[in-house]
Amino acid sequence: MDKKVVFSAIQPSGSLTIGNYLGALSNFADLQKDYQCIYCVADMHAITVQQKPADLRRRTLDLIALYVACGIDPEESLLYIQSQVPEHAELTWVLNTITSIGQLNRMTQFKDKSKKQKEVYAGLLNYPVLMVSDILLYQTSYVPVGEDQRQHIELTRDIAERFNTRYSPTFTVPEIMAPKVGARIMSLQNPAVKMSKSDADENAFILILDEPDVIRRKIKRAVTDSVGEVHYSDEQPGVKNLLDIYSSFKKIDPDEAEREFASAGYGELKECVAEAVVEGLSPVQEKYKEIRGDKKELERICRHGAERAHYMASKTLKKVYRKVGFVQF
Ligand code: TYM
Repeated sequence: MDKKVVFSAIQPSGSLTIGNYLGALSNFADLQKDYQCIYCVADMHAITVQQKPADLRRRTLDLIALYVACGIDPEESLLYIQSQVPEHAELTWVLNTITSIGQLNRMTQFKDKSKKQKEVYAGLLNYPVLMVSDILLYQTSYVPVGEDQRQHIELTRDIAERFNTRYSPTFTVPEIMAPKVGARIMSLQNPAVKMSKSDADENAFILILDEPDVIRRKIKRAVTDSVGEVHYSDEQPGVKNLLDIYSSFKKIDPDEAEREFASAGYGELKECVAEAVVEGLSPVQEKYKEIRGDKKELERICRHGAERAHYMASKTLKKVYRKVGFVQF
């Protein structure tokens, strides 16, 4: 029997944080055993906010190298750049015609992002429809993402069902696959908001490629509270976030981490969290340095991935075009 499909994508819109790593990227490699995995660099999503073209090009290849450094095997999985597979844009057009503007206006990420723009362009509003197309093109069963993407996956299910009802069964209706721990890593400076690479305060996030000393310094400065005891509780969001980070890197339950630090102060907790992060990221950083310089190999990976993705995507798109009534010769 064919393996079920797992699809996920990441935007090359900046350096990735340990939020991206724990919520998504670090879980991708293990899925390769049991699923046909498809991982994409979402450069078409990235241009919904203004990018410097040279930076976008560089970060796109950075991200391909990072996927490989995190254990994605480009022969076994499909690894490619979104803009190199035209079916993503083509399906988006068709799905735009069955997506209501009201529903797009209600997307919380759209509301947050549009507040930060002087002028809101149509691409930002339609961003989720492109995401829906990414997922539906490959008859995806599971989408491994962090909690912040849940609403977009629900929209994907809605649109898949709407199309299937209107025209006849065409798309697999996918499910979200969020990790038990690490699905929502919070800012180190304000644990009420998620950790994000676009935060103006550099101490709020840790980048996957941060040097060990930078990681130690940022964790030392992390906001805690005045309780003075380590509990895994919503009342202590800063400490809870540190325990989430620690237990995700150590691959243990947060309750077990809480017990480990039962008699520890915040200083000791922070030191241990910092060492867990440094140790967890070091193999990724080493591998990344090894492969990032090999431009030819990265290019080969992208071409190979895009060819295979195009083959799969074109099958779905053909079906869609036939069902909506486009002439095909
Ligand atoms: P992006 O690039 O913002 O983030 C990539 C992945 O990282 C997760 N993530 C987090 N997880 C835990 N804690 C955090 N603080 C945190 N910050 C980010 C995100 O949930 C995501 O899984 N729209 C998507 C990219 C995309 C996509 C897709 C994803 C495009 N097409 C199709 C899935 C399927 C995005 O902007 O992710």
